[in-house]
Amino acid sequence: MTIRPATAADVPAIAALEATAFPEDAWPAGYLADAIAGALLGTGVLVAELDGDVVGHAITSVVFEIAELQRIAVAVEHRRRGVAGLLLAAVRDLAAAQGAPALLLEVRETNAGALAFYERAGFAEIDRRPRYYRNGDTAIVMSLALQGR
Ligand SMILES: CC(C)(COP(=O)(O)OP(=O)(O)OC[C@H]1O[C@@H](n2cnc3c(N)ncnc32)[C@H](O)[C@@H]1OP(=O)(O)O)[C@@H](O)C(=O)NCCC(=O)NCCS
Repeated sequence: MTIRPATAADVPAIAALEATAFPEDAWPAGYLADAIAGALLGTGVLVAELDGDVVGHAITSVVFEIAELQRIAVAVEHRRRGVAGLLLAAVRDLAAAQGAPALLLEVRETNAGALAFYERAGFAEIDRRPRYYRNGDTAIVMSLALQGR
């Protein structure tokens, strides 16, 4: 398993993962290509590669020391094998290296799997945003303190 920055060649694989993992609000290929090209301020894309295939990705943004995990997704057939854990470790390192005191994220309160993953990783709820998502779902805002500033 390799965790590395995404390249333009990874766009189709990441777009396919987005469509499966986030059917309601997948990032389109053009937006992903812009992020990978560095055209979206502070936004970075990491992929997990296994035997030449992209099996997961994470999108982060770090702007003025505010680090956010925009999304993280793993292919269904590769879940529960630690792939997201490896991606998250790389995101944490990246955010800490840029001086961010904490890593923030928003997750749907209905997304039990992701909530379990984030809680296991040490994230704690800091806020709730009712009707944050288009379908009326509430967002839970979570934060993870970063060490080694
Ligand atoms: C959430 C997600 C990224 C987790 O990826 P993953 O590679 O399966 O996670 P890991 O294998 O690193 O999980 C580490 C630990 O987190 C917890 N965990 C992960 N997924 C879980 C689930 N569906 N239910 C309960 N606990 C879960 C477990 O404690 C797990 O350890 P274990 O497998 O030894 O029990 C993956 O389920 C996914 O892509 N979901 C769809 C996209 C999504 O909702 N992303 C998050 C919102 S941005």
